[in-house]
Amino acid sequence: MRERSKARMDRFVIEGGRRLEGRVRVNGSKNAALPLMAAALLTDRPVTLRGVPALADIENMLRLLDELGVERTGELGAGGALTLRSADESNSHARYEIVRTMRASICALGPMLARRGAARVSMPGGCAIGDRPVDLHLRGLRALGAEIDLDGGDIIARAPASGRLKGDLVFLGGPMGSTVLGTANVLCAATLAEGRTIIECAACEPEIVDLARLLTAMGARIQGAGSPRIIVDGVESLSGAEHEVLPDRIEAGTYMCAAAITNGQITMENCPIDCLLAAQDRLEEVGVRVERLDRDECPTRATVRVTSDRVLRPVEVTTQPHPGFPTDLQAQLMALLCLADGNSVVTEKIFPERFLHVAELARMGARCFRQGATVVVSGVRRLKGAPVMASDLRASAGLVLAGLAAEGTTTVNRVYHLDRGYERMELTLQELGARIRRVEGSD
Ligand code: EPZ
Repeated sequence: MRERSKARMDRFVIEGGRRLEGRVRVNGSKNAALPLMAAALLTDRPVTLRGVPALADIENMLRLLDELGVERTGELGAGGALTLRSADESNSHARYEIVRTMRASICALGPMLARRGAARVSMPGGCAIGDRPVDLHLRGLRALGAEIDLDGGDIIARAPASGRLKGDLVFLGGPMGSTVLGTANVLCAATLAEGRTIIECAACEPEIVDLARLLTAMGARIQGAGSPRIIVDGVESLSGAEHEVLPDRIEAGTYMCAAAITNGQITMENCPIDCLLAAQDRLEEVGVRVERLDRDECPTRATVRVTSDRVLRPVEVTTQPHPGFPTDLQAQLMALLCLADGNSVVTEKIFPERFLHVAELARMGARCFRQGATVVVSGVRRLKGAPVMASDLRASAGLVLAGLAAEGTTTVNRVYHLDRGYERMELTLQELGARIRRVEGSD
């Protein structure tokens, strides 16, 4: 992995208009891997994860785990196996210096509290995609008997005097539905709690199912993961385990949109097509063909061909919790809809402010009209290359896609946002025939 400070201001220069064609292998999921890694804090035995993607956010999580006494051996990336072992449980403080670089550090809270009886985790602050409170995480842990205070910007959590959390009924519904990382935190904490925990309004995202699989392999007793009610019967201790990380549905969906926007054809291996049904549905409505080429392989690791029609139809799309259309693909789909033949309507129901890409797409000639959490995208015949920048991972991905389709040169500044969530994106796109290069240095 490149040194962070050096990578900070790199940019992508894209000469648009090339049809993408070829094969891509989908990497392990970032958003599955982060809570899986934090789950290593639940035991002092080794936890081995295969296919952890080599990304900046993963490096940040490794840095955090290192501070929390977790030893690391092995390799990141496809074919690699990373082994984590919580060898020293004396420091349970996730400091602001790390949490501010990555909100997912909050995943350490539930596991540390459950195993060590106490945890101190800096409260994550605001973020480019809007207000992101953690009240539901805290409500859930309190329901299990934790005492929680705030001191100096840190969340201080303690288990009851017995040292062990106590199972109970936990409701995780908030104004926008459930919470993915909040469910991960409570699920992890409940595995070591005394008695039965019932999580109602649990997140149904595939990343939660993947976490439950690892925890079950470690000896946890869990039913219902993937549904809104998860039942956990606490055990006294957990063992080590080996686990292969779920493929990244958002990376797969992004490359589907790349094929579509360049009128191309991409075959994807290791594609979690069963986790992408809402995206497939919207893409097919636009006029993109998504076909499974295998019939026998597991639908979570399928081979899928994506082919675009010349004419893209406008659609309505609303982001929702899984199995609805994912917010993490909204910007990429919007880039595609900029070139559709008519008016599309995009409504964001998870992060209503997540529209950093809209003004930047306008700089490329897109016609987008935003009102609150809805954007009407009035399709244009062509986009024009321009220098653009977005301070959010998926917004940046949307701009790269727009650049691939645009006439002329697009410069996407500050690609460190992309490096947080896409492994070697420019190399993957080059292999598919895109003219894209990374330029190091300031923007
Ligand atoms: C996860 O974030 C993902 N991050 C996000 O992906 C993703 O966009 C999001 O889930 C939604 O799918 C990781 O997995 C590391 P939430 P998370 O708690 O868990 C509200 C990316 O680009 N809420 O499910 O933090 C919240 O404001 C990232 O890869 C509360 O009100 O999201 C939002 O409206 C960005 N109180 C909604 O719930 C809480 O305590 C869903 O957020 C927690 C959340």
